[in-house]
Amino acid sequence: MKLQGKAAIVTGGAQGMGRAICLRYAQEGANVVVADLNLAGAQKVVDEIAGMGGKAVAVQVDVRNQEQVQRMVDAAVEQFGGLDILVNNAGVGKIIPFLETTEQDWNLMFDINCKGLLWCSQAAAKVMIAQGRGGKIINLASQAGRRGEALVLAYCASKACVISMNQSMALALAEHKINVNAIAPGIVDTPFWDEVDRQFAKLLGWEVGEPKRKFTAMIPLGRIEQPEDVAGVAAFLASSDADYITQQCFNVDGGNWPS
Ligand SMILES: NC(=O)c1ccc[n+]([C@@H]2O[C@H](COP(=O)([O-])OP(=O)(O)OC[C@H]3O[C@@H](n4cnc5c(N)ncnc54)[C@H](O)[C@@H]3O)[C@@H](O)[C@H]2O)c1
Repeated sequence: MKLQGKAAIVTGGAQGMGRAICLRYAQEGANVVVADLNLAGAQKVVDEIAGMGGKAVAVQVDVRNQEQVQRMVDAAVEQFGGLDILVNNAGVGKIIPFLETTEQDWNLMFDINCKGLLWCSQAAAKVMIAQGRGGKIINLASQAGRRGEALVLAYCASKACVISMNQSMALALAEHKINVNAIAPGIVDTPFWDEVDRQFAKLLGWEVGEPKRKFTAMIPLGRIEQPEDVAGVAAFLASSDADYITQQCFNVDGGNWPS
């Protein structure tokens, strides 16, 4: 078990990739704070982990709210005696053409995907620094952060911002032996992409389901990504096997993007 006795927080842990990461971390021996806006969903994941013989707690958090974020970090310390791993997974995306992007759309994506990530990382890093035993921070970027897309300006920009923040945080925290790395997934079969599919279909005049089928057909490895494809890499990056890796963003996208 790679993460025996470690304390981890996973934001957006109630479904999709966050849920898969919570389950994988518990399998690897970690104690997990499943943090999400959706408390009932987070509690279901906690129950799944308990059913496997693991330890987890559900915490309701809006990552945009610094007080709630502090309570989430305090919960890890109170329940599990400290904090070793933070996964900044909570995120939102909307498919909106450049000319129609509103201030509200922009703020929604940047507030959750970027500002929320900053608040969670600051609160977690302060605990990790005080503990003096290092730590791991893992940020969910996206292939969308690697390039622009005509219909996805704000989300692409927010994920490019995540890749930049990942670099700055890694440099700021290196002296404390806190490794900061990101994962850039491709097209992952989660509730998020079901909604993205509907939004693309509407804008392109396609059938619902067609965007997912057509975009999946272009993936070099020939299948849609599963949340577990990301969870395995998130487990590696949280483990001591990744102690000499920091400031990196790993494409986990079936070969969609080359670098
Ligand atoms: N699905 C994809 O194809 C894909 C690809 C690349 C990157 N990503 C990124 O990976 C991450 C996870 O994606 P997913 O597909 O599992 O998403 P998802 O929508 O299935 O799950 C996201 C979870 O985050 C929670 N959440 C949303 N806003 C929150 C907030 N303000 N505070 C706390 N929790 C909040 C939601 O309640 C939900 O449980 C996101 O950052 C997303 O941008 C997704």
